[in-house]
Amino acid sequence: MYKFFFDLVFKRMDPEQAHYTAFRWIRLAARIPVLRTFIAAVLAPRHKELRTEALGLRMHGPFGLAAGFDKNAVAIDGMSMLGFDHIEIGTVTGEPQPGNPKKRLFRLVQDRALINRMGFNNEGSAAVAERLGARRAVFKTVVGVNIGKTKVVPEEEAAADYVKSTERLAAHADYLVVNVSSPNTPGLRNLQATESLRPLLTAVREAADRSVSGRRVPLLVKIAPDLADEDIDAVADLAVELGLDGIIATNTTIAREGLGLQSEPSLYGETGGLSGAPLKERSLEVLRRLYARVGDRITLVGVGGIENAEDAWQRILAGATLVQGYSAFIYEGPFWARAIHKGLAARLNTSPYATLAEAVGADARKPQ
Ligand SMILES: Cc1cc2nc3c(=O)[nH]c(=O)nc-3n(C[C@H](O)[C@H](O)[C@H](O)COP(=O)(O)O)c2cc1C
Repeated sequence: MYKFFFDLVFKRMDPEQAHYTAFRWIRLAARIPVLRTFIAAVLAPRHKELRTEALGLRMHGPFGLAAGFDKNAVAIDGMSMLGFDHIEIGTVTGEPQPGNPKKRLFRLVQDRALINRMGFNNEGSAAVAERLGARRAVFKTVVGVNIGKTKVVPEEEAAADYVKSTERLAAHADYLVVNVSSPNTPGLRNLQATESLRPLLTAVREAADRSVSGRRVPLLVKIAPDLADEDIDAVADLAVELGLDGIIATNTTIAREGLGLQSEPSLYGETGGLSGAPLKERSLEVLRRLYARVGDRITLVGVGGIENAEDAWQRILAGATLVQGYSAFIYEGPFWARAIHKGLAARLNTSPYATLAEAVGADARKPQ
């Protein structure tokens, strides 16, 4: 039914316009208590066996909404209503910024993919912090806050920009993510080099500890799928050394592998990050490498090309305690999280594992 609706309505609209239209409907529905309760009852049924504990937080399940969908934290309850177990808002930057000129989001329908060069369009950390501070949560969903660098801030001053956002936002975050992996802010991904990443993560950790008393806000770093293997290992080692809580793998890719070339070739040349189905293999590969390096010492979050329960299950077996998705939501629609939960519960119940936690990283423990 959704696919028919997608073809009829959304496919005819500009992708970014379609996003805001759908977003408006979700927010509107979430504001009407009867409707909200009804939708949540249908779309977010709870499977007890999927209950997840990660980063010291309790969640209904392992499946969250990846960063970039709700950049300004305006639809946390709306997205919770649709069944996501955690919502990662952002990326939020130190200062507000409009992002890149439009058109900056492209749908590759046949490839079940997106290319975006949004460029961190967001209202800035002061406005988002104020919104989160004033929020009366309807659903007690875990909220992650993903922060990035303001475009006009030079690379050498990046840490101060992240620290500013941390000071404003950490108190409102169940967990905090340092995003150094978007391809759409010039120079941002250079911050993944350990000589830049070490002082950056140290400064953010200290800022979080300074600004939040009574609890330690879990800190994660989100990495690109385009890192070379040695660099993935280096980030993993650094994360362990610094006592980071997690690594999110992965962001979008600048590569154009895995595209069918039969669908929308005119779009393949668009600059930006590719997400969705073509990213699946590489994201899984990065996750496997990370798990081989850090094991259970750090929480791994698998994201990139997850389309269905089988994909999510494969990430868990590869070492992810949490999984996230974005692009497939555009193609699968509002029943997506429900289908993932149902399929995950079925897989777990027919697996040799008693709990999801037991399944995490099981592939790596299999005799070769
Ligand atoms: C339109 C769009 C905007 C995004 N914006 C952000 C962002 O602001 N910050 C971020 O960390 N990731 C962002 N992402 C990346 C996603 O969070 C995710 O890592 C990536 O899309 C891979 O997952 P997917 O294949 O399920 O979409 C964005 C992705 C898309 C498609």
